[in-house]
Amino acid sequence: MENTSGYRTPASISPTGHYTGYIWARHGLSHPALVTHTGRILFQLFRPIVWLAGATGAPRADSFLLTRHRLIDLRLAEAIESGRVAQVIEIAAGLAARGWRMKQRFGDRVTYIEADLPEMAQAKREALARIGSLAAGHHIVDIDALQESGPGSLAAVAAGLDRREGVAIITEGLLNYFSLDNVRSMWRHFARTLAEFERGYYWADLYLSSDLAGPGVSPFLKLLSAFVRGRVHLHFATADEVHAELEADGFPYARLLEPGEFAERLSGIPHGLAGYVKVLEARTHAGEQTSG
Ligand SMILES: C[S@@+](CC[C@H](N)C(=O)[O-])C[C@H]1O[C@@H](n2cnc3c(N)ncnc32)[C@H](O)[C@@H]1O
Repeated sequence: MENTSGYRTPASISPTGHYTGYIWARHGLSHPALVTHTGRILFQLFRPIVWLAGATGAPRADSFLLTRHRLIDLRLAEAIESGRVAQVIEIAAGLAARGWRMKQRFGDRVTYIEADLPEMAQAKREALARIGSLAAGHHIVDIDALQESGPGSLAAVAAGLDRREGVAIITEGLLNYFSLDNVRSMWRHFARTLAEFERGYYWADLYLSSDLAGPGVSPFLKLLSAFVRGRVHLHFATADEVHAELEADGFPYARLLEPGEFAERLSGIPHGLAGYVKVLEARTHAGEQTSG
């Protein structure tokens, strides 16, 4: 799929969304209708490999996936609860159930747009149709995160939203499949869009290369690269590098959330995972404390 930046999004990334979709359901964070045959097969296929990677020192895939997923849930829910966010655009939502869960919990207090490449968006529509009709204010749309303008771009998706309300963009499990140049242009694009709103938040999972030096990690990344038939990128070594990049891209307020800091509110975070995965929280608007 070619976009306005001339970059072709590898279709091979999408099966990872079936895999994580299965993981969320397996751990009670989703609805059985969002589990696909592909997700189930991939889970069984990778089970021994994931176990082996864990035995050699890599973080267990389901543990760090759940950690990031639940921390993003927590920060988003707090922002909706307090009225700071009333609209969400989840880019690369895959088969995750966050949109469905947030709509169940917050009803018409939030407009939730789930966006993904057309094929995945269609799979999501079909899955949600099996659960029942979409709630009012819950939309599934096509997007290409790298598309600068026109149909399928973030600008087009955000066009109908209310500029006087807060909006959040979420990407989970997306950034590492793209080069730093691609991530940079996505972030610029996100910041430009968010700055049009009263309040603009961005949440994403983030991995620092300096945290991932342990044994077992490198084979795990190689395996993932082979599976998606493309390189898995670790873009930053330190939090300072992340902050500097975000500031240059239009996010003046940003911090990396350490899951360990939220352990009390996220019961059951596996011990020792705090060092592996972080959640990036960035804002385009001033007037709030950066700390959580
Ligand atoms: C690892 S999955 C993550 C899905 C979901 N966020 C989750 O955590 O379960 C990666 C997702 O990125 C989507 N994707 C890949 N390239 C994309 C692009 N250029 N624009 C939007 N989504 C993209 C895939 O279709 C897939 O759903």
